Amino acid sequence: MTDPQIVLTERVQQALADAFGSEYADADPLIRPSQFADFQANVAMSLAKRLRRAPREVAEALKTELSDFPGTVEVSGPGFLNITLNDSWIAAEASRMLKDARLGVTTVTPAQTVVIDYSAPNAAKEMHVGHLRTTIVGDSLARLHEHLGNKVIRQNHLGDWGTPFGMLIEHLLDIGEEAAVAQLEAGQGTEYYQAARAKFDGDESFKLRSRVRVTTLQSGDPETMRLWHVFMDATVRYFNKVYTMLGVTLTDADIAGESMYNPMLEKTCDDLETAGVAVLSEGALCVFPPGFTGSDDKPLPLIVRKSDGGYGYASTDMAAIRYRVHDLKADRMLYVVGADQALHFRMVFAAAKLAEWLPDSVSAEHVQIGMMLGKDGRRFKTRSGESVKLTDLLDEAVERASALLEDRGYDETTRAEIAQAVGMGAVKYADLSVSHDSEYVFDFDRMLAFTGNTAPYLQYAQARIRSIFRKGEVDPVAAIGSIEIGHEAERELALQLLGFGAVVEQTTLLSEPHRLANYVYATATAFTTFFENCPVLKEGVDPETRASRLALCALTLRVLETGLDLLGVPVPERM
Ligand code: ARG
Repeated sequence: MTDPQIVLTERVQQALADAFGSEYADADPLIRPSQFADFQANVAMSLAKRLRRAPREVAEALKTELSDFPGTVEVSGPGFLNITLNDSWIAAEASRMLKDARLGVTTVTPAQTVVIDYSAPNAAKEMHVGHLRTTIVGDSLARLHEHLGNKVIRQNHLGDWGTPFGMLIEHLLDIGEEAAVAQLEAGQGTEYYQAARAKFDGDESFKLRSRVRVTTLQSGDPETMRLWHVFMDATVRYFNKVYTMLGVTLTDADIAGESMYNPMLEKTCDDLETAGVAVLSEGALCVFPPGFTGSDDKPLPLIVRKSDGGYGYASTDMAAIRYRVHDLKADRMLYVVGADQALHFRMVFAAAKLAEWLPDSVSAEHVQIGMMLGKDGRRFKTRSGESVKLTDLLDEAVERASALLEDRGYDETTRAEIAQAVGMGAVKYADLSVSHDSEYVFDFDRMLAFTGNTAPYLQYAQARIRSIFRKGEVDPVAAIGSIEIGHEAERELALQLLGFGAVVEQTTLLSEPHRLANYVYATATAFTTFFENCPVLKEGVDPETRASRLALCALTLRVLETGLDLLGVPVPERM
């Protein structure tokens, strides 16, 4: 681990133990970036009381212990320790990182089994922008965990079951399989749903047929099941179109929709009831996890079986959590789902605890996804008020990217090559660069800008580094000379690069891709400053400096590429 902040934390902890006793070895030294040095440690102030000494005195004692530290340590103000690393240390660590295929990212031992529930659109309704965000954030988390060596089990909890399927299947019979399949594959699930709904509301005989169909579906009648498959397969083909456009790693093998849990629901409810965890209330089987009350102060129920005997969203999630812990052997479960479902998940987790289906050794976490807003600050919709069709939105992103590239003077061949990556990268990065639980405004102009914290800026930054190697006719992989620090901008860039491993680990631990996004952006910015100040290929640059700078370029390129890849943002070779 080369991250300076972590190295410093360990060194200052050692100094604390040496100066004041081993009971201080685990104290947080409070290392923070500093305006006056590389870092400052604020621990002298926080520990002074406990040590019954003046903070400055504590700081002086630590400074003495740190006399062999590869840098300078100064006491300032009320007791800050200002710490500046030696250039030679930074250079040596950066040179070491260059030879490390994992760029300072350690693998988790022992590996964890991480179940990630994400995307999960509903059949027969258009996959909407909200699902876009859960898909993109979830996919990045899956990539991150895999990179750390964890075993990732993706679970696409499709909404593929329920009473609406009665009318959806009857509508399919009315319009014919072929026409239905064509419509669903084209992503017109919403129109399909609305047509079925209109008949259901206006046509008594259709309504009756639909109700009967729900029963035959639930009883597993083979012909009805076949029709359900026809419907679902066409719908999934559309979802897959969206995943392919986005470059999302979900496949059919990851589908674990609501219907998958049907055979488990009865036992799920019986077991909850037998254990006394669920009780009958007004005919419905409910769990009342402690601590949940409604506005009237009455205990809030999690309904696992409705009074008509039917099962719903909560029943499925109770079966799913048991399956994931017991069968999939999850150590960690992430539910990447809209923030508006926070209460549902808190109750499901609490109910699973009550049932002893969720041991303390397994963590269940709702990664809350904030709402996507339009430029008017309201929920994102088209002007006519309908929700936006996803493939249209993604097509528009690529068209706009292409227009933007044309404005910037790219020829047609290049545009055709990279517009896809720029458009999809922009949409994805916009989702990833803000914290996942904040609402955010979907704005093409902002996400497609070439300046600022955007995908095009970052894609351009990495492509520019590649062009340095093309011009210099050097292989970036072979550029593994050693890194020397001669200029302030080299120092800043190297220090920034050393933080990669720690950021990847933190991002994964906290399920917050925006941390990695911000790091990648800061790295690109540090590179820009370096490149403006430190010529690499220019004549007159001596061979050693040139080799060192090429090595810095190579390391930056690998960090940017790996970082963007972990976010799922595509990187065009040239730009
Ligand atoms: N289909 C749901 C929706 O669109 C999301 C499902 C999330 N996963 C779960 N296990 N409940 O809101």
